[in-house]
Amino acid sequence: MDKFVINGGKELSGTVRISGAKNASLALMPATLLAPGQYRLHNTPGLRDVATMSRLLETMGLRFRREDNTLSVDSSDVRRYEAPYEHVKKMRASIYVLGPLLGRYGYAHVSLPGGCAWGPRPVNLHIEGMRKLGAQVELEGGYVTAKAKRLKGARIVFDVSSVGATGNVLMAAVLAEGTTVIDNAAMEPEIAALGEFLVRMGAKISGIGTNHLEIEGVDALHPADFTTIPDRIEAGTFLVAAAIAGKKGTAIRVQNCDPSHLSAVTTKLEDAGVMLRVGKDFVEIEPLKEILPVNVTTSIYSGFPTDMQAQWIALMSLARGTSMVTDTIYADRFMHVPELNRLGANITVKGNVATVVGVKKLAGAKVMSTDLRASASLILAGLAAEGTTEVLRVYHLDRGYERIEKKLALLGADISRVSGEEF
Ligand code: UD1
Repeated sequence: MDKFVINGGKELSGTVRISGAKNASLALMPATLLAPGQYRLHNTPGLRDVATMSRLLETMGLRFRREDNTLSVDSSDVRRYEAPYEHVKKMRASIYVLGPLLGRYGYAHVSLPGGCAWGPRPVNLHIEGMRKLGAQVELEGGYVTAKAKRLKGARIVFDVSSVGATGNVLMAAVLAEGTTVIDNAAMEPEIAALGEFLVRMGAKISGIGTNHLEIEGVDALHPADFTTIPDRIEAGTFLVAAAIAGKKGTAIRVQNCDPSHLSAVTTKLEDAGVMLRVGKDFVEIEPLKEILPVNVTTSIYSGFPTDMQAQWIALMSLARGTSMVTDTIYADRFMHVPELNRLGANITVKGNVATVVGVKKLAGAKVMSTDLRASASLILAGLAAEGTTEVLRVYHLDRGYERIEKKLALLGADISRVSGEEF
């Protein structure tokens, strides 16, 4: 297992290029099950989660080839309609194969993902959605088995806005007979990207990017090429890196992002006292003397993303004053807090609210990654901390950040990966 060693206090400057969105790629890749043939998915990030999704889809007969950032997919020979536990346990997004397998092949046998590091993460809405579309769904032995001759359009109103359930039902509904309406659909840009991709494949969808989707089922789809949207969470993480460790008086450019996807984060950064200049595909950020305390509450898009909550807490740990960070999406997602406190932060958690009392400085220590975004917050804190920070178990970071240490080093950070030992 690798670890990162960061010698903190180096001032960052320069330009960082943002990769394609992990959460979009993880939906686009299984969508290729819906129509046999050749696809090219441009701007696909080189991440462990993308590799895990490829391995899973390979067990079903798909073939992948990567050239630079283009992932070529051949889905002409799908032979197996199963997602075994060995794969699903590695990555919850594996559940995304349920909708397309059921919609295209009328059968899916998919392991239930179970919980994750910070608590339970149910998939009841995915299952209810498939049932509403007329599938016969059984849960047994830790697996979902879903069958249907052909799915039938239905009206689905989600109790909770769910990215995964919206994506899954959308992929199932595009080949259903008749019209499906999804209300309280997720509006996240990654779901909009999936919708656009499906339209390129011949699907009839209206309301993309809104919480009301209407899908008129078609008899067949065809392969298409697509360019994945930029990763708004990676962009947000680098903006916070610039705010926490950027060289005062110089601008850091976060390039190849979509600023319109980032407004919840950029607004809060401005409230925290940084200067921003927003272009068509970049945000330039200039850190000022001190960080001001700013409360955030996570919510569904276009609110502040839960996937930026841990990074925001890292930033607020160095603010001049006290802030409150509330997570309404995942009430238990605060595994990073005790680790940040090991670096000298002063954070307490009660229920789903973290109270962050800003401290003057953080000091390097050994800390442990527990999940993807928690790991990112520890890296950010390590950049600002005095002395050496070791972030152990960085495989979490490799799931969702493409070469994060290389990108940070290009900005001037002193960060290195140490491989091959048991940490
Ligand atoms: C996706 C993202 C993840 C992000 C999350 C919230 C991917 C691969 N992952 O995860 O990075 O943190 O959105 O923006 O895109 N829920 C239910 N029942 C369900 C499904 C969800 O109650 O069947 C609840 C969850 O417990 C949670 C809320 O709905 O409280 C939102 O979760 P959801 O949007 O489904 O998250 P994911 O799609 O798993």
